[in-house]
Order: sequence, then structure tokens, then C-alpha cells
Amino acid sequence: MGCEAVIFDLDGVLVHTDRFHYLAWKQLSDERGIYFDEEINRRLRGVSRDESLEIILERYDGPALTPEEKKEMTEKKNVIYRGFLSQMTPADVTDEVRDTVRRIRKAGYRLAVGSSSKNTAFILDKTGLTGYFDEVADGTMITKTKPDPEVFLLAAEQLAVRPENCLIVEDAAAGIEAGKRAGMKTAAYGDAAKDRIADYDLEQFTDLLQILTIDTGVNV
Ligand code: BG6
Ligand code: MG
Repeated sequence: MGCEAVIFDLDGVLVHTDRFHYLAWKQLSDERGIYFDEEINRRLRGVSRDESLEIILERYDGPALTPEEKKEMTEKKNVIYRGFLSQMTPADVTDEVRDTVRRIRKAGYRLAVGSSSKNTAFILDKTGLTGYFDEVADGTMITKTKPDPEVFLLAAEQLAVRPENCLIVEDAAAGIEAGKRAGMKTAAYGDAAKDRIADYDLEQFTDLLQILTIDTGVNV
């Protein structure tokens, strides 16, 4: 497939922080009496914090909120969310993910994280994943989040690999769209794999090794 680099989404792919996003938004919505469920949460995958709030507010029928009130809500959500993140340790990364990423890197591929999250550096640090990647492109470095391709194009630029030689690994429909718009190959994991919109659907994380035709028998 001419692939030279793999760009991993973070939340919901490398770590299950997608669960913490859900719990934090749920707490905030419950406090405000706004209906929120897993189906709505699915639409928040990959999109920015501010855009997530707008999606949640589609079910809000109270008086119009000022920009200051919205800012207060996103800041509060982030405080709740960071409370969960601060408890994370390397044990929150599965052996399957850690070993697969290591094998891909050992096989000579360039690796990056491409995430909409402004908490990316914090999460990579807490889980001990920072050193596994050559580059990190995240929500602090971009102006438009997924489905815009900006974060993935930035990662490819950092890696000095052409977009068509990059494979994206994503759990969000917005992320698969971003990868396609960037002109990259896409592999869907978890939630996005149900949509059958990517070039590859992963049943398990290790399926990446077959896609990249890496010998899984190699001990690393
Ligand atoms: C993405 C998540 O990775 O990051 C989204 O899938 C989230 O759900 C976005 O809204 C922004 O995250 P953060 O950490 O900057 O609030
Ligand atoms: Mg994700």
C-alpha cells in the first residue's frame, strides 16, 4: 500500500479517554437538565470541545446562553475531565496497543499522534506513551478540528511523509472523513468500524499488523 507512516488518533484509539469525555459531559448536562446520551456522545467523537457543547445544546430549550456562559460550561467540563485524566497511569494502555505500536515502529514506520484534544500532551505523559511517537499534532496547534484534515496534514508535515503514504487510525466518523480529505488511507477502530466508511475496519488493534503486513511472530 506504499505506507510509510501511521497517524493514530488518541481518544478512543490509544486510550479509552472517550469514556471520560462522556462522563464529564453527562455530569454537566445533568446539572443543567439537558438530555444527553451515548448516541449524542457518538457525534462528539473527534470534534472540538466548543463544537461538542453546541451539539449538546441542541437539546437545551432554556434561555439563550451568552458566550461567557458557554465558556464557563466548556471550562467546567474540562475540569471534570482532567479530574479523570489525572488518575491515569501506564496501566490504562492495553498490552495490545503498546505492543502493536512498538512493532509497527520497529518495522520502520514513522509514527505520530493526530488528535483534536488540547489535553493530548497531558494524556501521553500520564500514560507513558510520549516516547512511542516521532511527532504529535494536537488541538493546541490547529485552527479547525476534524472532520477538517488540518491536524492530519500537520502530522504528515511534521513526519515529512506525503499524505498518500500515511495510514490514519480512528474511532470517529469525523476522523475518518478528515483522513480521507487529507488524501490518506484510513483504518477504523471501535465505533467508526461499525460505519464501514474506512479503507480498513479493525476488529482488533493487532489487525493493523496484517494491514501493514508486519510479521506478528517477531518478538520486540
Ligand atoms: C477528541 C475527542 O479527541 O478531542 C473529542 O474525540 C473532544 O470528544 C476533543 O471533544 C477535544 O478534546 P479536549 O481534551 O481538548 O477537550
Ligand atoms: Mg477518537
